[in-house]
Amino acid sequence: MQKNLLIVGVGPGSPQYLTCIAMDAIKKSRYVVGYKFTLDTVESVIDKTRQEVYHVTMQNQESTYQYVYNKMKEGEYCTVPFTGDANFSESEVVDRLLEIFGDKNVEIIPGISSIQIASSKSMIPLDKSLVLSFHISGDIEKKKKELINAIMDKKNVILLPRPWPDDPSRNFMQSEIAKYLKLNGIDTSILKVWVFEYLTQYDKETIFRGKAIDLEEMSFNPLSVMVIDQNERHSYRDFDSPENKSPEIVLDNN
Ligand SMILES: C[S@@+](CC[C@H](N)C(=O)[O-])C[C@H]1O[C@@H](n2cnc3c(N)ncnc32)[C@H](O)[C@@H]1O
Repeated sequence: MQKNLLIVGVGPGSPQYLTCIAMDAIKKSRYVVGYKFTLDTVESVIDKTRQEVYHVTMQNQESTYQYVYNKMKEGEYCTVPFTGDANFSESEVVDRLLEIFGDKNVEIIPGISSIQIASSKSMIPLDKSLVLSFHISGDIEKKKKELINAIMDKKNVILLPRPWPDDPSRNFMQSEIAKYLKLNGIDTSILKVWVFEYLTQYDKETIFRGKAIDLEEMSFNPLSVMVIDQNERHSYRDFDSPENKSPEIVLDNN
């Protein structure tokens, strides 16, 4: 018997993006421990008459995880819900949870990331993009160089900016990104960008489409994804196999 932890991606905010497997994980858990945004996302699945719910913040998360772990009995389940996909830009918390519970007691259930929604809305495939998260506590200088290199290589980039409300000098939001690109020799007057705020929250969602230079004087909510669009479309008809070129139509009359 063991104490079981379910690390669950719950999608970018709308319950419509909450998967069945995520809902099952939450329902079988005696404890649900998460940030407010994710707890709100899964609210309709939680039954407070039989489940204990803990709201964590950056300040109390360590003590709350420890408290719940010590309180859990053998065989019980705890879900920690994460926005989007738990495997993207969440490792600072996920790594600590793996440390507390031990890998063999943990299952990670993937979710639909904000990055995937931005990819769908901009019609830019993930496999033709560099995907970057600046939403981390550590040093971002190396990632900033990767960003420049990808743009120079004509790649698309889908990225999470870095909000740092307590110390704006550490912000790397859309306006800082646009200025940084210009400073590093990118012609931001022709570079196409998208910014998506509040994805999947239908009454609040916004889409900005323009050039990187426009972003210099704009400010966006921390809940946003930025896309650098250098996409070139190539369908199978662009590749020279004879089948791809042939207009032959085969009728199946059976
Ligand atoms: C700690 S990261 C978590 C990313 C998450 N694991 C994912 O897969 O989407 C938090 C950042 O994700 C982005 N994000 C998450 N949900 C979003 C949404 N609904 N709309 C726009 N951006 C979102 C924002 O950039 C936000 O600051």
